[in-house]
Amino acid sequence: MSDYSRRQFLGAAATAAVAGGVTPALAVQGAPGGTRVPGSAAGMAPSPFAQESAVGVAASRPVVIASGNGLRATEKAMAMLVEGADPLTAVIAGVNIVEEDPKDNSVGYGGIPNEDGVVELDSCVMYGPTHQAGAVAALRNIKTPSRVARLVMERTDHVLLVGEGALRFARAHGFEEVNLLTDEAREIWLRWKERHSDDDDWLSPPEQGNGGAQSKARDILRTYGTINCCAVTAGGDLAGVTTTSGLSYKIPGRVGDSPIIGAGLYVENEVGAAGSTGRGEAVIQICGSHTVVEAMRHGMSPQEACLHACKRIADCTRVDRLRDAKGRPNFDVKFYAVARDGRHGAASIWSGGHYAVFADGRNRHEPIVGLYEHD
Ligand code: GLY
Repeated sequence: MSDYSRRQFLGAAATAAVAGGVTPALAVQGAPGGTRVPGSAAGMAPSPFAQESAVGVAASRPVVIASGNGLRATEKAMAMLVEGADPLTAVIAGVNIVEEDPKDNSVGYGGIPNEDGVVELDSCVMYGPTHQAGAVAALRNIKTPSRVARLVMERTDHVLLVGEGALRFARAHGFEEVNLLTDEAREIWLRWKERHSDDDDWLSPPEQGNGGAQSKARDILRTYGTINCCAVTAGGDLAGVTTTSGLSYKIPGRVGDSPIIGAGLYVENEVGAAGSTGRGEAVIQICGSHTVVEAMRHGMSPQEACLHACKRIADCTRVDRLRDAKGRPNFDVKFYAVARDGRHGAASIWSGGHYAVFADGRNRHEPIVGLYEHD
């Protein structure tokens, strides 16, 4: 890759975009953290490869970015950076707010459980100055998996602990064990369990005005909600964290991209940091966040690099059940990136949505560029 020039890199991406029938556009999007696009992606039209992606969004350091559900995280992390905290401490403190929030059903305490009704959490952290990383997967009973991931990085010679081993490690470090399943999340799971098949004995509650009949309508969407948060300090040091309860109603033990270094998060102190939300399987299959950072290393802006990774996913999605009638992914993924110099950007497969950014003294949402645009 040493002679892989920026011109070649961008040229290949643009050629692929044209071949795929996409046209430039920008879009604003709603669902934070990557809500799954229903299987029938009919009604979605060709779309974007953003002209503005060649520019990226400039900002003076320090900068903190996060997925759309991370506005409180960017605020907290920036406050800590300004007070001199190291960037990893800052971003973890930021996402802890969301991990501990029972109202957020996609992360930590209150997350939607697996198919057995048990909440299993995934998280990883990466610290630019030392290029160290730590992660936990399928961790039960601990509200803040990001803190356990940091301890894996700092207090073991490993990168990733999973399941029972991760829980025992957390116990050894004195983490409090709690039941992560809130009543609200349990009710959501119960509705799914009662409705997901016509061929079992679980019945929905009788509907009022329906003569007591039980509906089996399969109208409950599954989500991949997640929070990613990355920061660059005034001095140019980078760190990032990704944390999630993963795919709702997943098979127990399923691990998504969020605890996989290079997939749900990657940090290179000389280049930038990137993270993802959305369908983790697709991100893992292209080493998504590593792809974004490598694209930035070869000259793309953060926004271009995120869009490049989305295009890689579109190119690599070859299984019919994951594609719409036009051959496009019938799911969504979002990437978020910040460069060492403070530029930042984000992109998604399907247009819409926003990401959180605290830069130049303002904490706000910025629009996400989409590869394809909804009708
Ligand atoms: N991106 C979160 C997951 O797939 O679990």
